[in-house]
Amino acid sequence: MKRDFLHITDFTSAEIHEIFAKATEVKKRFRNKENFKPFIDHTMAMIFAKPSARTRISFETGFFRMGGHALYLSPTDISIGKREAVKDIARVIARYNDIIMARLFSHDHVLELARYSSVPVINGLTDYNHPCQIMADMFTILEHRGNLNDLKIVYVGDGNNIVNSWLRLAQRLPLQFVCACPEDYLPDETTFQDARKAGLSDVSISHEPKTAVKGADIVYTDVWASMGQKDEADKRKEQFKGFQVDDAMMAATGKESLFMHCLPVERGVETVDSVVESKASIVFDEAENRMHVQNAIILKLFNK
Ligand code: CP
Ligand code: NVA
Repeated sequence: MKRDFLHITDFTSAEIHEIFAKATEVKKRFRNKENFKPFIDHTMAMIFAKPSARTRISFETGFFRMGGHALYLSPTDISIGKREAVKDIARVIARYNDIIMARLFSHDHVLELARYSSVPVINGLTDYNHPCQIMADMFTILEHRGNLNDLKIVYVGDGNNIVNSWLRLAQRLPLQFVCACPEDYLPDETTFQDARKAGLSDVSISHEPKTAVKGADIVYTDVWASMGQKDEADKRKEQFKGFQVDDAMMAATGKESLFMHCLPVERGVETVDSVVESKASIVFDEAENRMHVQNAIILKLFNK
């Protein structure tokens, strides 16, 4: 039976820990330029309906370094769901390739792709979630702290795909997670309720970012207008006043917190240059770890 990675909850807690251990191992191998090629003669189709830097580069480089070949399919190549039905392209690609990575608008499309593909499908971001990112982020936190105990993460900004993935992670690993967002920009209600019901983590929503960040180990933010919402950018700048992660917001944690952002960052909007460039910022570690954690995920999907 092939396995997909579409949501963080597709893995058990034990598997997530296993993936982090594997990521540590593959990261070391990469840094030492060891010959590690479990995917010789394998190909990965990467479907992009949205732009990307990190996701494309990390998957393509990572898979190549593990011996495989990755094909970049740009937004105009496939036009998923427009030029051709999702269920058709799923079966076609699976005849040529060993694995599919897809970055799409519609989450239903990635679910359909996985349903019809006979090879594993990895979700490289949809409007609903971004599981690879949050796996890499938690691994980055583990590297920096040495453990994941008593972790308070405060996300400040739009209750978007990044937040939905944190809420899924909160169903697998215990943490205190606060989403501090404007009232009209909440995360997905069902996902939030599922995280609450799972009873493993303490998840909450706040509309008072300065108060919410008190005691935070991690302050995390993301763009206020995600891909597909860029025409709302000006309106959102008005509605997100008070939610910028600036130096005063970082100081309001009252402790030596770390700053995280999935990137790309809009400096002067959701955060500022001095925070991104500060000692607290671990944004480039997050970016690097995308590759190592994704490689560990691919290895897991192939039982390697
Ligand atoms: N963080 C992230 O997914 O970056 P890209 O959109 O550049 O892939
Ligand atoms: N929320 C952002 C994340 C980018 C990696 C977006 O969807 O555009």
